[in-house]
Amino acid sequence: MLEHRFGMDEVVTKLTILRDEFTHLHDYNPIESVSSRLKTPESLVEKLRRKGLDPEDGPSFDEIRARVTDIAGVRVVCSFASDVYRVFDLLTEQEDVRTVQVRDYIKEPKPNGYRSLHALVEVPVFLSGGAVPVVVEVQLRTVAMDFWASLEHKIYYKYRREVPAELLAGLHEAAETAYQLDTRMEGLHQEVRGLDPLAPDLVAGLRGHAGPDPGLLDVLRRLGTPELDGEPGPQAPV
Ligand code: GTP
Ligand code: MG
Repeated sequence: MLEHRFGMDEVVTKLTILRDEFTHLHDYNPIESVSSRLKTPESLVEKLRRKGLDPEDGPSFDEIRARVTDIAGVRVVCSFASDVYRVFDLLTEQEDVRTVQVRDYIKEPKPNGYRSLHALVEVPVFLSGGAVPVVVEVQLRTVAMDFWASLEHKIYYKYRREVPAELLAGLHEAAETAYQLDTRMEGLHQEVRGLDPLAPDLVAGLRGHAGPDPGLLDVLRRLGTPELDGEPGPQAPV
């Protein structure tokens, strides 16, 4: 459990760094919130039973970890669906992060309407005896998807997993409404960004620059840095 907490804290730190960097260096922050939770021993035992592993049989830690992959869980709430993928890329492209599994319930929602991007990532936790790889479940979703999922979760538990059919239909419809809201908000957001007087200039400045981060280039441009037209020089103010 301790190893999983360390792994979870590491992923949270990575996301917090990204969020803080965006807040301070970019004019837009794709991360609304980051939260984390460690599975309680009771919930772990319940899930092991559900997955057909009797805790009384004394399964090994490896067997438990193979069956229950969400001992450490991190949830990232973003403003827009495009941010979900952007944050996912920024996290999983990091050198010490290995992507174990991805389930895209945004592209392919669950039958009940649930949408989110799920990833199992493995990060190294450095203990006194050396590095230990730890798997952390990361769920990324928009504010609207999060709103829907928290209500659905409450209803599911209130009805002890036997939700009346009309409520299920209502939930499914609400999931579609949430998705439409996401799409409209994203459209409006793009429109506003397109109206930004700096944006066309930025796009022109970015041509031929596949490497540097666009947001960083934006900051440099605002600061009037001459290195923008070539490689950033050693005196670049970042
Ligand atoms: P478990 O469902 O946890 O046994 O894992 P799984 O292997 O089926 O993974 P899945 O990606 O389906 O779900 C993992 C987690 O995503 C769950 O523990 C929930 O936190 C969340 N989740 C998945 N489906 C739903 C859903 O329909 N509604 C809500 N509210 N949350 C969901
Ligand atoms: Mg499931």
